[in-house]
Amino acid sequence: MTEIAWWRSAVIYQVYPRSFQDSDGDGVGDLAGIAQRLDHLVRLGVDAVWISPIFPSPMRDFGYDVSDYCAIDPLFGTLADFDALLEAAHARGLRVILDFVPNHTSDQHPWFQESRASKSAPKRGWYVWRDPKPDGSPPNNWQSEFGGPAWTFDAATGQSYYHAYLTEQPDLDWRNPEVEAAMTDVLRFWFDRGVDGFRVDAIHHLHEDEEGRDNPPNPDWRPGMPPNDRWLQTRTIDQPGVHASIQAMRQIADAYPDRVMIGEAYLPIDRLMAYYGADLTGFHLPFNFHLISTDWKPAALAALIETYEAALPAGAWPNWVLGNHDRSRVASRIGPAQARVAAMLLLTLRGTPTIYQGEEIGMLDTPIPPDLVQDPYEKNLPGFGLGRDPVRTPMPWSGEPNGGFTSGRPWLPLAADAATRNVAAEAGDPRSMLSLYRALIRLRRASAALSLGDVRLLAATGAALVYERRLGGERVVVALNLTGRATSLPVGASACDVLLSTRLDDPAPPRAAIRLRADEGLVLRAPADHP
Ligand code: NOJ
Ligand code: MG
Repeated sequence: MTEIAWWRSAVIYQVYPRSFQDSDGDGVGDLAGIAQRLDHLVRLGVDAVWISPIFPSPMRDFGYDVSDYCAIDPLFGTLADFDALLEAAHARGLRVILDFVPNHTSDQHPWFQESRASKSAPKRGWYVWRDPKPDGSPPNNWQSEFGGPAWTFDAATGQSYYHAYLTEQPDLDWRNPEVEAAMTDVLRFWFDRGVDGFRVDAIHHLHEDEEGRDNPPNPDWRPGMPPNDRWLQTRTIDQPGVHASIQAMRQIADAYPDRVMIGEAYLPIDRLMAYYGADLTGFHLPFNFHLISTDWKPAALAALIETYEAALPAGAWPNWVLGNHDRSRVASRIGPAQARVAAMLLLTLRGTPTIYQGEEIGMLDTPIPPDLVQDPYEKNLPGFGLGRDPVRTPMPWSGEPNGGFTSGRPWLPLAADAATRNVAAEAGDPRSMLSLYRALIRLRRASAALSLGDVRLLAATGAALVYERRLGGERVVVALNLTGRATSLPVGASACDVLLSTRLDDPAPPRAAIRLRADEGLVLRAPADHP
């Protein structure tokens, strides 16, 4: 029997390092701060921590503009701090996953400086350069994700370079084998230091149409929508060459034991599946973001789960996400009461869950006053509600000033409710969201059916979603009330003990039916022999 890879039964936790814990009073979180808070992650029960970028960066996109892939930005600490963090994490049984940003570098990266120096520079072909049109307009209609044309004219050489994101984030040209070689060396550098895996940024953007053809108009675009949505990204995302590049990354990971590769791609389910790669030689886990965008209704969620499960290639392992540093927080999207139900969903579905920092205490989006806005997405495209600062506010740890996050002035304000919604307060409350997350992770870990078992939908009523997880003789039923009204379900007769309620009390055991109170989710132990 081959051993089951650790990341299948793992729970992953995303740290946004600027906002996790500041150790030196500069108002920005850092590596020593993360090390101070590792015990929170141990107590929560997660297996791995993914840390958003910590590499040297001008911070135009808060670390997603890397100017040196093999070092640590002084804002976050030193390489020695990183090694110490890795050692401290490993000593506690926590794996560490770093963020790999292969699509683009910072414009301050020496590679880009060399590339822009002249048309005959050895690294000219490391980036995507094209002549402007004869009238001086951009080479084609490609738009930046952060607004405006995706081309910036560089007067020094009279050509334009492509950037899927900011002007300060020029795209590498992954068709160039030298780029692939240099970037896979980066993976080796960190794997050699003991890093357990990578979350790979913006992978769907890695390649662009070689002929530079225009993107077609988006038939659904209407005035009032963000201007860059005017065109479909037919020529700029999910291009054929991407899978060979992912395979090259995966081969590096496979040369080390027990490493995991996770890909960030916002794609429809059918196209996402290709990111597992032919014969599963691509990502172990192409992030599944569909819970973020699916209607919070039983039928819609049931359809999502069935479609996603059915689309998975043979042997591929699923994964689920409720939020991250780019998307509105789940408690704001569906409300604090349903966020508890969402936690139960995330931690009882089949597949590796990723928790975004703050979800475990039910953090909400924090509105940011205009004079404090940091995110270039908001600055470039104001008024569309695209800014990501509201989901990046510092982690509140306690009732101390600034939630115990910093002794200085935090780079973004703390949430208004930080004095009451914080880790210390919730740790002392047996019914808190934090207590629920801890209980759910404990339950998942104790149950082979929840960790690794099959999933089967049992019912999607107007109010509730019910499914079972099964492994060998163990059978667990999960019943989630997605409404604020009590409801009962006919599938209860055979489900005996309540293992956990999102209310964290002891509800009456089901008799003829499962009764769900308002906004309640239940995990039940069911007899294995029930059909
Ligand atoms: C996705 C990252 O999650 C986001 O924060 C970043 O701005 C873009 N990729 C560009 O790197
Ligand atoms: Mg700091």
